[in-house]
Amino acid sequence: MDSLRFLLLLMHSRIAAAATVQGHFWHITDLHLDPEYRVATNPLHVCPSAGSKPVSNAGTWGNYMCDSPWSLINSSIYAMKAILPDPDFILWTGAFQLPRSKACVAVIRWTFLLRQECSFAGFSGSR
Ligand SMILES: *[C@@H]1O[C@H](CO)[C@@H](O)[C@H](O)[C@H]1NC(C)=O
Repeated sequence: MDSLRFLLLLMHSRIAAAATVQGHFWHITDLHLDPEYRVATNPLHVCPSAGSKPVSNAGTWGNYMCDSPWSLINSSIYAMKAILPDPDFILWTGAFQLPRSKACVAVIRWTFLLRQECSFAGFSGSR
């Protein structure tokens, strides 16, 4: 087989393969959990992630000055469930702005909730 025919065959098989692979997935990135976020009235006691900057109008779902509170991340998981409850996989990337020990606890908590709420093959084995 000459190289041109081989190249055309290779291109054809790649196009055919690309046309038949379909699926859905979630890509979650940069959660930036602040596990110590509080809806505090003292602007200096809301979130360690704001450093020494005051945080006014802290709300249940967080504040622009802070990393994400658990309530926001939890709400996001339930929104994912409502929008696409059965993805083929979940790609989870990004950084934690936490010390390693707190990041591990956060990852376990987050993974447990995803496993509980999203029924995809990687966790539930239901397919
Ligand atoms: C997570 O969100 C669900 C759905 O809104 C709610 O029922 C549950 O209480 C929340 N849990 C936490 C720990 O915020």
